[in-house]
Amino acid sequence: MSNNIIIKNKIGNFNKKIKVSSDKSISIRIILLASQAVGISKITNLLESEDVINTLKSIKKLGIKYTKSNSIYYIQGFGLNEFKRKKNITINAGNSGTLARLILGLLVKSKSNIKLIGDKSLSKRDFSRVIKPLKMFGANIKSNNNLLPIEISGTDFLRPITYDENIGSAQVKSCIILSALNTPGKTIINAKVSRNHTELMLKFLNYPIMVKKNSGYDKITVKGLHQFKAFEYSVPGDISSAAFFIVLTLLSEKSQMTIKNVNINQSRIGIITILNKMGAGIKLKQKKNYNGELIADIHIKSKSKLNSITCPSKLNSSAIDEFLIIFLVAAKAKGVSKFTELGEMNKKESKRLDLAVKFLKLIGIKVKRIRNNINIHGNPNLKLSKNYEIKNFLKDHRIFFLSCVTALTLGGRWKINDKDSINTSFPDFIKILKSLGAKIN
Ligand code: S3P
Repeated sequence: MSNNIIIKNKIGNFNKKIKVSSDKSISIRIILLASQAVGISKITNLLESEDVINTLKSIKKLGIKYTKSNSIYYIQGFGLNEFKRKKNITINAGNSGTLARLILGLLVKSKSNIKLIGDKSLSKRDFSRVIKPLKMFGANIKSNNNLLPIEISGTDFLRPITYDENIGSAQVKSCIILSALNTPGKTIINAKVSRNHTELMLKFLNYPIMVKKNSGYDKITVKGLHQFKAFEYSVPGDISSAAFFIVLTLLSEKSQMTIKNVNINQSRIGIITILNKMGAGIKLKQKKNYNGELIADIHIKSKSKLNSITCPSKLNSSAIDEFLIIFLVAAKAKGVSKFTELGEMNKKESKRLDLAVKFLKLIGIKVKRIRNNINIHGNPNLKLSKNYEIKNFLKDHRIFFLSCVTALTLGGRWKINDKDSINTSFPDFIKILKSLGAKIN
């Protein structure tokens, strides 16, 4: 079967209520925590995408059993570090940096050697950011020059650490928090603010974790070796998936959309803040608490006039996965938009900052890049009519989604390769587009 799609027409008007896929960050974390709980945890609305399936397969390799019945996942944990695994196993994290980095945190006390591998994209990503703190805990780690494959064998002589996390990476922070669960004493992380799902989940489970806010940093204190009981948890919708439908609606003509039950954790909604500063008028309604997270329905209407932005870099971490699609809005906005300190974008599933510059130039937008800062010269009259082909993007799901939204809102004839990349985070992406009237072959 062909692995590319063709889009030759812009999308027509629509007025729809949709649900996007469940949150990927939350799905991966909740499985890992269920594997450490005592008893059978019950998880509803789990995202069924490749990254999450790989998480389930990984805990299964470590001896944790799970079943699925009527769309509910039941995961049997035996407590902290009580994996019932065979010797010398290999865990394949596939495309997922989150799975790879977080699961290493759970293996600091592993009794035998465990090998961690991943796909082509993950094998290019740097693991020094987690290897350093894991070694401080006392874990034994060998890597291929900080790249995969990694071999980890834990130790019974773990010591708590105090660590300054200055990247603003939730993966690094969460890896340390998970290691701290298995380590006696108090681990302290001074973490540059990033998504805080792990902390919220542990609080939801009444785990002894304390967070003190301090201008751009969180001081997180985790007490180790506290057993927690199995739990029930329901996963909300993913703002990072909703992002593409928000922009699709914004840049379409005379359309509107409601996206139901999306996680609007403050550390994730940079896209809403940024687009509203550009004049998007996005509204969050029906806000409610959901297992310690905040959710809402997102309302968006098409907007023909959008303004440029000078984006404060303090918003970077809360929009880190959304800049690709935010840049498309900047391309259609009036004036020059400025984004700074975006080096982390090049450390994702592909080198996203490099690819974004290439992409914007491809659609005729003037872009000036100096190191990790870019200026995008918007063109409110931007209309496309040429042939475009998108390929060689390391199957980065978000480059695929960006290409589809561009084709459907700006026109042109598009061939977009590696359709299967959607399975990483949002398997229903094309199905939902079609339900809005998009013509995709
Ligand atoms: C994630 C954190 C972010 C994000 C990634 C998911 C997470 O990465 O880009 O898609 O679930 O913790 P970093 O922590 O490396 O910034």
